[in-house]
Amino acid sequence: MALVNDHFLKLPNNYLFADIAKKVNAFKVMHPKANVISLGIGDVTQPLCPAVIEAMHRAVSELGTAEGFRGYGPEQGYDFLREAILKNDFLPRGIHLDIDEIFINDGAKSDTGNIQELIRWDNSIGVTDPIYPVYIDSNVMIGRAGREEGGRWSNVIYMPCTAENGFVPALPDRRVDVIYLCYPNNPTGTVITKQELRKWVNYALKNDTLIFYDAAYQAYIQDPDIPRSIYEIRGARRCAIEFHSYSKTAGFTGVRCGYTVVPKDLTAAVVGDVPSAAGRRVALNPLWLRRQSTKFNGTSYISQRAAEAIYTPDGRKQVAQTIDYYMQNARRMLTTLRRLGFEVYGGENAPYIWMRTPDGMGSWQFFEALLYGAHVVCTPGVGFGPSGQGYVRLTAFGHHEQTEEALMRIGKWTGH
Ligand SMILES: Cc1ncc(COP(=O)(O)O)c(C=O)c1O
Repeated sequence: MALVNDHFLKLPNNYLFADIAKKVNAFKVMHPKANVISLGIGDVTQPLCPAVIEAMHRAVSELGTAEGFRGYGPEQGYDFLREAILKNDFLPRGIHLDIDEIFINDGAKSDTGNIQELIRWDNSIGVTDPIYPVYIDSNVMIGRAGREEGGRWSNVIYMPCTAENGFVPALPDRRVDVIYLCYPNNPTGTVITKQELRKWVNYALKNDTLIFYDAAYQAYIQDPDIPRSIYEIRGARRCAIEFHSYSKTAGFTGVRCGYTVVPKDLTAAVVGDVPSAAGRRVALNPLWLRRQSTKFNGTSYISQRAAEAIYTPDGRKQVAQTIDYYMQNARRMLTTLRRLGFEVYGGENAPYIWMRTPDGMGSWQFFEALLYGAHVVCTPGVGFGPSGQGYVRLTAFGHHEQTEEALMRIGKWTGH
């Protein structure tokens, strides 16, 4: 008899975005003429930039020739892309990485989920709350998260990020084996200063904690003093794995490409069933290479050539223009919503705006009120964790015209 991994059965049935779609559909059935605008989407709307398109066309043509054809590529990615990453994403910030520390993937979601295969099932995990749901759900699937009670998992340490603490999570008051950090943050759109990030690195080094650092939105950082990589902090090479994505950086949500950095200095303790290794520390970089070589056959050549093009002079300029397009939305949203009397956060170094619901309304209650009152969709904050209750997330990924229209409707709805 095959036995199911019943940890899957512990996952809540309701997937946040499916629940939202259901409610929006119900509204549309009742109001077939209403033109609903979504400020809830996490996907981008602007097309790929010309430099990327040209690189993809070239790659396709190459693959169609006898000399240029390529089959399986290296599991950890082609050197042309890994070199471009070292040279452009890290060296200018004084970060020296080895090419073998970069692992190209098909986007950050896979690796932020898969990475926890490197650690034992009984490690404790800590997350800032609210948080990108993949971190917790992937741990639930392997049985590490414990039991769910009232939206909280018994083996997960939650570090609240709310307006009351300025969205700066406090260090845990006990040892935690693994901590997930995401900056700029999804969903709150807030960032971490170097000084604050240093505290986390020091905590990790002191407590032998591993940090999984998700930098998927680093391209949106406008303030030059905000760190774009955890490796800007001394000592992070010994305690952190970092995830990058081209999805929001360059509109690759459909193309699929990203990368993970696993430094060679990073080690973890062995206590388990391998007598030859017990009591030793083991480097995680070769383990991740082994894992990827076994379970992953590489990212498509076309996607990797597309990603390489982002680092060319034209590519850099074009990608920056698209990011600026979204950040113009973010600025318009912040100023308009503040003028309307809403309490809003984030949106300055990130494409997300985190808005407190007025009059103590619950996240879902406000979601419905906004949908029915202004025909605008937001994402209920409680879907990202217990500390998201009483907030909603708005995204700046829309078209300018639609974003303006949504803001105008919200203004009318609130009586302005
Ligand atoms: C914080 C965070 N990490 C990772 C991802 C996944 O990105 P990718 O498209 O590269 O898989 C997302 C996507 O929304 C995200 O918000």
